[in-house]
Amino acid sequence: MIDLMRTRTHQRRLAVVACCVALFGVQANAQQPGQPWLDRSLSAELRAHDLVGAMTTDEKLRLVFGYADPGEELAKVPDSLVSPEAKAYVRAHAIKGAAGFVPGVPRLGIPDQFQTDASMGVRDAQIPSTALPSSLATAASFDPEVSRAGGAMIGTEARASGFNEFLAGGTNLAREPRNGRNFEYTGEDPLLAGMMAGGLIRGIQSTGMISTMKHFAVNDQESQRTTVDVTISPEAMRQSDLLAFEIAYEQGRPASVMCSYNLVNGRWACENDYLLNKVLKQDWGFKGFVMSDWGAVHSTADAANNGLDQFTGFPCCNSTAGQFAPPLLKAALRSGQIPAWRLDDMAERILWSLIETGVYDHPPKVAPIDFKSDADVAQRAAEESLVLLKNDRNLLPLKGVRSVAVIGGHADAGVLSGGGSSAVTPVGGNAVPGLQPVSWPGPIIYLPSSPLAALKAELPSARISYASGEDKAAAARSAHSADVAIVFVTQWLGEGFDGNLELPSGQDALVSAVLKANPRTVVVVESGGAVLMPWASRAPAILQAFYPGIRGGQAIARILTGKVNPSGRLPISFPASKAQLAHPVIPGFGKPDGLPVHIEYDEGAAVGYKWYDMKGYKPLFAFGHGLSYTSFRMSRLEPRFDRGSITVSFTMTNSGGSAGKAVGQVYVGPDDWRGAGWEAPKRLGGFAKQALSPGESKSVEVVVDPRLLATYQAAGNRWAIKAGEYRVMLGQASDDLPLVAKVSLPAMSWSAAHPSH
Ligand code: BGC
Repeated sequence: MIDLMRTRTHQRRLAVVACCVALFGVQANAQQPGQPWLDRSLSAELRAHDLVGAMTTDEKLRLVFGYADPGEELAKVPDSLVSPEAKAYVRAHAIKGAAGFVPGVPRLGIPDQFQTDASMGVRDAQIPSTALPSSLATAASFDPEVSRAGGAMIGTEARASGFNEFLAGGTNLAREPRNGRNFEYTGEDPLLAGMMAGGLIRGIQSTGMISTMKHFAVNDQESQRTTVDVTISPEAMRQSDLLAFEIAYEQGRPASVMCSYNLVNGRWACENDYLLNKVLKQDWGFKGFVMSDWGAVHSTADAANNGLDQFTGFPCCNSTAGQFAPPLLKAALRSGQIPAWRLDDMAERILWSLIETGVYDHPPKVAPIDFKSDADVAQRAAEESLVLLKNDRNLLPLKGVRSVAVIGGHADAGVLSGGGSSAVTPVGGNAVPGLQPVSWPGPIIYLPSSPLAALKAELPSARISYASGEDKAAAARSAHSADVAIVFVTQWLGEGFDGNLELPSGQDALVSAVLKANPRTVVVVESGGAVLMPWASRAPAILQAFYPGIRGGQAIARILTGKVNPSGRLPISFPASKAQLAHPVIPGFGKPDGLPVHIEYDEGAAVGYKWYDMKGYKPLFAFGHGLSYTSFRMSRLEPRFDRGSITVSFTMTNSGGSAGKAVGQVYVGPDDWRGAGWEAPKRLGGFAKQALSPGESKSVEVVVDPRLLATYQAAGNRWAIKAGEYRVMLGQASDDLPLVAKVSLPAMSWSAAHPSH
């Protein structure tokens, strides 16, 4: 069914976009002699190079300066910085309510760049769209194909809404479990995070859009995000945060990368020669362009020479200092502070990205969107991703229950989503409008997918009641009188602030009261990331839903009732207490923005489960943990040294009574991990998810990326594997690895630079 629920104003706006886009299309397709960039048989490199050769300096300068939604702020900017013509062009062409806009060069068929956030779907206050589960939830699927499918869906919606550039591809590691944006990222492990973010980017770019890997790099806390200086050694960085980005880059080939707000080792990330020039462009061979996070630019020549290609989001964040504004860049070029080749390079990188991804040749076409089938994609993602943390005495799936008491979490209306620039305006509207904060980083949005309604549909003959949970005694009474209670708890997180691990608003007390009234209680957790669960030992069943997307209610109900067998695995560790964290206090937490704080990541690459292993801590729930309604057996673990790495084959068998999906997890570690210079005893080396019917076995093979067996050596810029015995461990969670085999590895070393990519 095609859902055409758009406002008249919006349709008018789309018509304008369609007309401009069509004009560009005509220009881009009409081949003229002397215009080799229109020849689609030539490489993107050649076409971009020729285009730059045909551009004036002013035209190049247009491409490297992007604007935020052109509201009153732009009008206040002095004309000496942004010309009245440029302001008028932005006002006339930018998509209202969108994240950003970069003017093109119509004379050469160079399209305007229409930018939309973010990894969960199109974000525009005026454009209703489909919300995927949060990226952290999707990472729990342990299946990059799930991210790819989600990316293809949101990419198609974005193009049909007139956009050609997605600010999607959050890849920061969940180093700080309270980071308010962890839900936009893909977990704590570099391999998993890189594979899952890479899948999303690949999916988006398969639709002919640019996707943006972000926030580069080590932007692992939101408190004081624009002023925090992060200290971390190059070795630790390359083995943790940067490895996640490197893998995502290889998997997804994003055409743009967004540098972050913070400083890394004393240099702003958007003018950081090490990150942008040395690592990204030289070592990884990145050919696309680096755009700044919104307004994250502090200089003109420094930023340009240290690798920034595009200032984006002007004016932003109460700052009208547009260091890449054409007049400033022009002056720096004239005085020789920026060499002329550098402006050509910036423009060429942007043009290469536009051509390589198809944006130049295939402008987006505004079109109706099939929201029903897009919601199906989101539902499948949620059904692959929800994690069953506990299920004592097989309380779940619910079978033959006569009465159910649903309590709390606005479960009568919808499911929670995260706040800030990634918050999708959902098709069907906010299910619980008016909650505080209503303004940035709010509004708090509940996606209109009621778990209560979905449960009623799945259990038509059961009596199902709802209590909001505000009155604890009433909630306990309703739990007491039902066969089973299901209590929903929520934690809203968002951009620009970090959370607490404790659930807010007395929800722990509510869970305890419900558990006391009815021990047959299931707890469903909708959270941005990890939370403490002081009631966990008393709760027989816990389902971790994160932010489960526009069909989250249906996915929850189908899992609780056994229509779908849960197969998500935790992409992050859940700490047992705050005392287990590497950094008990987040510098600048809860204080007004702008404090010049500092954090030293002295845990190095020992992030998440590596930290717990290294310290000997037992988390509440370990990385990789997740239950199923059936059981699986792993066998025939056979690792072998093969072409410079370890190839691991093994067999997974469904040893239980129902169909389900197994996730085989392979971890690796040297016998003497300290002697080998590792940050921790083991690392995730590979994983494989397989659907298995009862009794069925499947053999799989995973190849361990050699970087996961190595340490990074800053002197010489090399990866090196120490000769010795390595353990290969197989199981179903980082703390459940019953099979172990050994492999001997010879010493190996290779350059960390692979510019041929
Ligand atoms: C966020 C980015 C986002 C940009 C545009 C910034 O505040 O950090 O992730 O893409 O805004 O909305």
